[in-house]
Amino acid sequence: MNMAEKQELSIGIFDSGVGGLTVMKQLMNHLPHERLIYFGDTARMPYGEKSQNTIIRYAIDNAIFLMEQNIKLLVVACNTASAFAKEKLKRIFKIPIVDVIEPGAEKAIQVTRNGRIAVLGTKGTILSGAYQTEIQKKSSGCAVFSVACPLLASLIEEKFIQHPATRLIVKEYLTPFLDKGIDTVLLGCTHYPLIKHLIQEEWGPNVTVVDSASTCAEKVASILQEKEELSKASFLPEYKFFVSDDPKKFRSIGEEFLGSSIQEVLQASASLSH
Ligand code: DGL
Repeated sequence: MNMAEKQELSIGIFDSGVGGLTVMKQLMNHLPHERLIYFGDTARMPYGEKSQNTIIRYAIDNAIFLMEQNIKLLVVACNTASAFAKEKLKRIFKIPIVDVIEPGAEKAIQVTRNGRIAVLGTKGTILSGAYQTEIQKKSSGCAVFSVACPLLASLIEEKFIQHPATRLIVKEYLTPFLDKGIDTVLLGCTHYPLIKHLIQEEWGPNVTVVDSASTCAEKVASILQEKEELSKASFLPEYKFFVSDDPKKFRSIGEEFLGSSIQEVLQASASLSH
């Protein structure tokens, strides 16, 4: 394949479900000429409660499905999959792989003034210690407070964005950390950008709430630029959406996450082992 052909290949993105659309949204903003193929493993979500071995197996299946679509770069938009499977995926697949842990950690380090950072995520992401390891590898003096928030992703998928129940659960999870002198809160889960306002309100105005999505998109842009693989197309790109369960449900909640309309969602069960 020559360079011009390579430039016009798609970027593949996978997540356990709809959440990764928050990352796709940033890719659409930062790289408006790139073709994007999204895969949401809706049949096997949530990932946040599952073991590392299971997540590695799912992540490999998802990556194979996207590799079969002939992609030039893979984005692991799911925090839990990034935390548990990023090393394994990078060893197996030969194309560039961008996960959300490194960009999120970089963003939090950039923003913090006092080095006291809270990371919010699923049980799996928090248990893996991946954000803590990455932050302390890059900035050893930082204190990282890890907060597992297992109920939040389900509430957000129920569209309980302004709901008092979500506010109450946010309060329950965050209260033990409010007096720790934290100045930066990293949203280490695909879903949490949708309730950023609730987290900000709970923590108050002196805390900066950040997420991985836009730093992840910047990283993708800089890798493609360096490899001279940015698309040269001038027309609006094609976006494809695949899921492993019912496409209808994905479409209605997905538009909320993506912030724009989704024309068609296809079911892609063939290459996935359940
Ligand atoms: N996408 C997952 C993450 O970012 C959240 C949803 C799930 O547990 O599958 O960790």
